[in-house]
Amino acid sequence: MAHRVFVTKRLYPQAIDYLTQHVEVDYHDSPVSPPPDELLMRSGLADGVVCQLTDSFSREVIAALPGVKALCNVAVGYDNIDVPAAAEHGVVVTNTPGVLTETTADFAFSLLMATARRVAEAERFLRAGEWGEWRIDLMCGQDIFGSTLGLVGMGRIGQAVARRARGFGMRVLYHDAFRASEAVESELGVEFASLNDLLAQSDFVSVHVPLLDSTHGMMGAEQFGRMKPTAILINTSRGPVVDPEALAEALIEGEIGGAGIDVFVHEPTPHPRLLRAPNALLTPHIASASVATRTEMCMMAARNVVAVLHGESPPNAVSA
Ligand code: DGY
Repeated sequence: MAHRVFVTKRLYPQAIDYLTQHVEVDYHDSPVSPPPDELLMRSGLADGVVCQLTDSFSREVIAALPGVKALCNVAVGYDNIDVPAAAEHGVVVTNTPGVLTETTADFAFSLLMATARRVAEAERFLRAGEWGEWRIDLMCGQDIFGSTLGLVGMGRIGQAVARRARGFGMRVLYHDAFRASEAVESELGVEFASLNDLLAQSDFVSVHVPLLDSTHGMMGAEQFGRMKPTAILINTSRGPVVDPEALAEALIEGEIGGAGIDVFVHEPTPHPRLLRAPNALLTPHIASASVATRTEMCMMAARNVVAVLHGESPPNAVSA
């Protein structure tokens, strides 16, 4: 009997073609995740699920899916899946690492540049017909060249951002639970720092950590209080790593200079005070959103689920 895969939400068509060549596919061809009861019902009829970060596979949901052998997320982050619970139930969880590294780093840098140089604000100003004439102080922002960048998290994406920063002549500090080897530090031209030193010295702070108990809320009022009043925070990791109320307060009260934020605690509804902060550039979780990268992420998830169901070791299993 053919293996059955539930695809919870729209994918790039190449991945659906690949899946239909290898397994029976139940495709929820929609830009929106199914509601929880439908997710449970259709996953329950499948051997494997290709899911996205808007699908929650909690301990209770996983326990109710005894036939499911694989949960293959179309994302590098997998905080929507209770991985220890999956391991206890013998369910393989996979993600899509590597392919989105450069694309995400490009976007983190785009946010950094756009926030420093007030690009979105300037465009709104022009479209609103407020541009009188050229002025010496019109929309002046901050220099990127020669400034100091603090990277919180030095995994693949943090390292890719560091490479970009070198091209801008930036000094790069980093903080991570694990210090990189001397060889990596010297190749990237980065300096390890305590989080407090990094916050105090950086003109830009860019966050690149996964969402874990230890990183939940790690950027809050205390951290913003340690940053320069001109400093800009960039977050392309996960919303809950940053306390949104504290960030809004820091922006509105001028404790920090600005923020470029792509991820939110509650998506798609950013904190209302953040929406009102003029020095915040907010984007809808699109850091990995190039057509090529998103297509390959879909393909990786499809290959992962097929491998598991065919008894092979999937290329991108994650461990609890
Ligand atoms: C991920 O992969 O975890 C991103 O948040 C979406 O690309």
